[in-house]
Amino acid sequence: MATNLLHRHKVIERNVTLLGLLALVTVAIGGIVEIAPLFWIQSTVTKVEGVRPYTPLELAGRDIYIREGCYGCHSQMIRPFRDEVERYGHYSLAAESMYDHPFQWGSKRTGPDLARVGGRYSDEWHNQHLRDPHSVVPESIMPPYGFLADRELDGKTIGAHLTALSRVGVPYSAEHIAQATADFTAQATGTGDTAALLKRYPKAQARDYDGDPARITEMDALIAYLQGLSTMVDFKAAQAQEQRK
Ligand code: HEC
Repeated sequence: MATNLLHRHKVIERNVTLLGLLALVTVAIGGIVEIAPLFWIQSTVTKVEGVRPYTPLELAGRDIYIREGCYGCHSQMIRPFRDEVERYGHYSLAAESMYDHPFQWGSKRTGPDLARVGGRYSDEWHNQHLRDPHSVVPESIMPPYGFLADRELDGKTIGAHLTALSRVGVPYSAEHIAQATADFTAQATGTGDTAALLKRYPKAQARDYDGDPARITEMDALIAYLQGLSTMVDFKAAQAQEQRK
């Protein structure tokens, strides 16, 4: 019986066309099993409570993060491995970057992962660290970014940015776009209509970030972005709910 089967397999091995054809069929089955379900599900990303689009100020900060190439040394993607979760916190969820265009997962960690850095340090710490990383972490090889504190921002064009993102599916409404500059200023100064800002962007933090309340700078925007990372999803509440189940 076994020799018989082996003998028949020889037929395949000796006929290159047949072998190619059967290999194609085998691979195609694997492909269909993996790809076909994607056509029937609504989305590959599960919605998570709390995840909202970035505020105009956070968005401006994110642009600076990308412009300065921070992603070249920092990832924003905590993998579900014990060592990473113990060091950084809850592993990253797909939903947390669903409004990121482009996403900032990164692929290199010269510095630590930043996905859970929001709220870990004070604004003063970030200020000092970005101006002179060496002064707070003596062994740091991160370059200084003090010039950000001298570059003023007025947020006048940020509405156009929201419009562009809304076209690729980020749910900014006409109101978000119309109020973008006002929200930008309110968040960077902690003055103005911060109640309206919070209504549009739950949990947004409004204050002067760079220690210079007289001006809005790129430093304000970048720190607002860093401090906002990971603050949208309430992982403690989610874990408590899991345990109750
Ligand atoms: C050349 C690589 C490099 C670049 C570029 C870089 N960093 Fe870093 N970063 C590091 C290293 C290394 C550390 C760890 C030592 C330290 O805290 O300074 C670090 C630490 C940090 C921390 C503290 C993280 C923590 O959990 O302690 C923050 C926040 C940070 N970087 C933000 C930024 C931002 C924002 C940018 C872009 C403006 C940037 N980094 C660019 C290498 C880099």
